[in-house]
Amino acid sequence: MTLKNTADRWGPVSQAFHWLIVLLILGLAIVGLTMGELPKTPKYFWVYTAHKSTGITVLVLVIARLAWRLYAGRPEPVPGTPTWQERIAGVTHWLLYALILLMPISGWLYDSASGLRPFRWFGLFNMPKLSPPDEVVRDAALTMHEWGFWVLVVLVCAHAGAAFYHHFFQRDATLLRMLPRRSPRIADNGPGPSVGTNTKEPPHVP
Ligand code: HEM
Ligand code: HEM
Repeated sequence: MTLKNTADRWGPVSQAFHWLIVLLILGLAIVGLTMGELPKTPKYFWVYTAHKSTGITVLVLVIARLAWRLYAGRPEPVPGTPTWQERIAGVTHWLLYALILLMPISGWLYDSASGLRPFRWFGLFNMPKLSPPDEVVRDAALTMHEWGFWVLVVLVCAHAGAAFYHHFFQRDATLLRMLPRRSPRIADNGPGPSVGTNTKEPPHVP
């Protein structure tokens, strides 16, 4: 088994990056939208630091993911996909990358320009500041963080919607090839052979 992407599948490293980042962003969104309502107890500050630390972790993961993408390439388009769909998907994917970089960078800039004490990444070390205290930079960074999030929501809905459309209506391998292989019966590019015709099946042992 290769870790790299092949001509017809995303490899396990790309899949792990994709789904781990999806889960972390979902958690960051839920916490980010609700943490302002928390009572100002020590837990409030703990939750903020957890949001910031997880956000910085996403930044590192996205940079590593992009490096892996440059090294490992990407699969060929699923056979039968019209060129216009490929182009829209390509633009959407790069916009998603831009936004998942913009979100942590704008959050970090907002935190830096607010003039607060440096936050400690999961309590381990002080994060450096990106800017000295500055109200204009702080407000601009907050606007980017808030609006960037809603643009991300719209893009993710279109992106996930397209993946499900391919799966349920076009019935092609677009979604399956971003998921771990469940069984050798699942073919990579189209419906698999019917049960019993798979020659790779282990012999039946009574
Ligand atoms: C992918 C990474 C991130 C995502 C998806 C994310 C998401 C969010 C969301 C949805 C909000 C609520 C915005 C609103 O009220 O409309 C928020 C608020 C906030 N985020 Fe993030 N965030 C990320 C990274 C970061 C980082 C790295 C930091 C700081 C180092 C940070 C600091 C903050 C702060 C301080 C707030 C509260 C803003 C306020 O005063 O209302 N975030 N975040
Ligand atoms: C239920 C939610 C999601 C589903 C079903 C999904 C599905 C997929 C699939 C099937 C691909 C591969 C497309 C292809 O082979 O052409 C893909 C790629 C991608 N997804 Fe998602 N995705 C989801 C959520 C997200 C989220 C939340 C983000 C980012 C915030 C994201 C970012 C990306 C990016 C950047 C790529 C392009 C990978 C590359 O070209 O390097 N996805 N997604």
